[in-house]
Amino acid sequence: MSDFSTPLSRRLGLRYPIVCAPMFIISNKEMIVAAAEAGILGAMPSLNARTLEGFRADLEWIRARTDKPFAINLTIRLTEPERLAGDVALCEEFEVPVWLTSYGDPTQLVERAHGIGGAVLHDVTNLKHAQKAAAAGVDGIIGVAAGAGGHAGRISPYALIPYLRQNLEVPIVAAGCISTGRQIAASLALGAELCYLGTRFIPSAECGAPPAYKQMVVDAGPEDIVYTDKVSGVHANFLRETLPEDWTADRTPEGAKRWKDIWSAGHGVAEIHEQQSIEAIVEQLVREYHDAVAGLPR
Ligand SMILES: Cc1cc2nc3c(=O)[nH]c(=O)nc-3n(C[C@H](O)[C@H](O)[C@H](O)COP(=O)(O)O)c2cc1C
Repeated sequence: MSDFSTPLSRRLGLRYPIVCAPMFIISNKEMIVAAAEAGILGAMPSLNARTLEGFRADLEWIRARTDKPFAINLTIRLTEPERLAGDVALCEEFEVPVWLTSYGDPTQLVERAHGIGGAVLHDVTNLKHAQKAAAAGVDGIIGVAAGAGGHAGRISPYALIPYLRQNLEVPIVAAGCISTGRQIAASLALGAELCYLGTRFIPSAECGAPPAYKQMVVDAGPEDIVYTDKVSGVHANFLRETLPEDWTADRTPEGAKRWKDIWSAGHGVAEIHEQQSIEAIVEQLVREYHDAVAGLPR
């Protein structure tokens, strides 16, 4: 069987070049441990722990259950400065191996992460922000394409991944619309070194999403996804059925609560057909990847 790793996945100590991407409210410590044990990189936003004490307890729980790499997402401008400082100090104390930074300038976090031997992957939707993050010394750029779950970009993954690849020296992580091993093979062919999957893991057994949310992702097609800035002031993709008729943009911190009732998912719902454990999802992705590569015309 052909090798299924990349320089970046080997550097991060992963068996497969796949990330179970961080999702506000619904990612949790159980997903991180299940992902780590399945050979991929699990992640959650630090803010999914309501308090700093809760975040410490989560990190203790994870460290007690796996010695494999995992990641924490630090949402820079969406986090109160005091909480961010506390989260960063805990990431240092627990030597979190991979820091996923989004929504802001990662410069200071790069220094802190590198200080404990960690790596930083920074989330962008365009080349300008990618170049700034690369200049700040990040270890990889996560290119979030059109159709992704959460705050998605506007550029098709077919264009975004090779565009970032051509213009940057740092490794590229492909995010958006990847739900199968076949799509992972395509992303690696386009120049990505890791694949960042969010929507695919919503209907995982370990995910904290309510059962109705998981089933809606299984049942939905890409036509059921709406791209709008009316929920949080920033364009993101949502399941149409959960959008109220009279929604208006709300940029207050309380506005974030809307993500609890208005459910986000990306175009990748097209290829998701059942609820499964993370272990089963990873096995399927690996099988599909090898089948895809073996089935290409010679
Ligand atoms: C419900 C949901 C919540 C998300 N919350 C976050 C977040 O808090 N921080 C972040 O950096 N990305 C967040 N994302 C984006 C994912 O980390 C990832 O980039 C995206 O899901 C990849 O696209 P895909 O859903 O098509 O796989 C979220 C995505 C979803 C679906």
